[in-house]
Amino acid sequence: MKHALVTGGTRGIGRGVVDVLLSQGWRVTATGVNPDHVSKARDADYLTNRILDVTDGAGVAALVAEIDRLDALINCAGITKRGQEYDIDAFEQVIAVNLTGTMRMCTACHDLLAESGGAIVNVASMLTFFGGPLVPAYTASKGGVGQLTKALAAHWAKDGIRVNAVAPGWIHTDLTQVLKDDPVRNDTVLSRTPMGRWGDPEDVGRAISLLLSPDAGFVTGTVIPVDGGYSAV
Ligand code: NAI
Repeated sequence: MKHALVTGGTRGIGRGVVDVLLSQGWRVTATGVNPDHVSKARDADYLTNRILDVTDGAGVAALVAEIDRLDALINCAGITKRGQEYDIDAFEQVIAVNLTGTMRMCTACHDLLAESGGAIVNVASMLTFFGGPLVPAYTASKGGVGQLTKALAAHWAKDGIRVNAVAPGWIHTDLTQVLKDDPVRNDTVLSRTPMGRWGDPEDVGRAISLLLSPDAGFVTGTVIPVDGGYSAV
């Protein structure tokens, strides 16, 4: 049975990814940094939920050392500090989780993925392509995730590891509920998105599952928008 490790998999988009992979017969280890979310996520058949802070090198190494086989790494852990990111400490914290944390997970899992011929999917953002004025750190981190994806894809193709990213548009999660509840901002999202709806976490999960599948066997180094056409107009 194939095994996937999903950081940030205990809620939001990551949880949607986990649900899709479980439905397709994967065994999944889902991690989150918040103990409440991790305990609420509850273990199930073929699903283990764990606490993991991707900025904690020793913690990452310890978790990866427990894994016997790994076919997929999905880096979904991410934060934003909207309105605070011109402060250098806040800037560094966001980069540490979103960009350095992604790199830490990728390097920690390299040998396991090389052994299985596995694949990585990183979660980028529309701000991989556009600038977010209130979130310079998030923008820089997600731009970095896109470029990191290409560098690792180029370097690790020789090891049989494919590395891709998805760039979600507006996805309905706990994080974005406040926007959806505000009629003006909700309307802005809907009118700016050609498909005229919010995405679901499972929309992102299905795109990731495609990138993990043999159908994407010659696909590496890409950043694929999952955005209902947002980045096309
Ligand atoms: P969320 O806040 O619901 O989930 C974030 C997850 O990351 C949580 O499971 C949390 O425990 C984990 N996390 C946070 N800090 C961590 C750390 N230091 N170490 C390990 N895990 C940590 O957010 P959501 O909306 O599900 O976002 C997930 C990913 O998708 C993020 O990378 C986000 O940037 C990205 N994204 C979200 C979009 C949206 O519309 N919701 C749009 C584009 C990208």
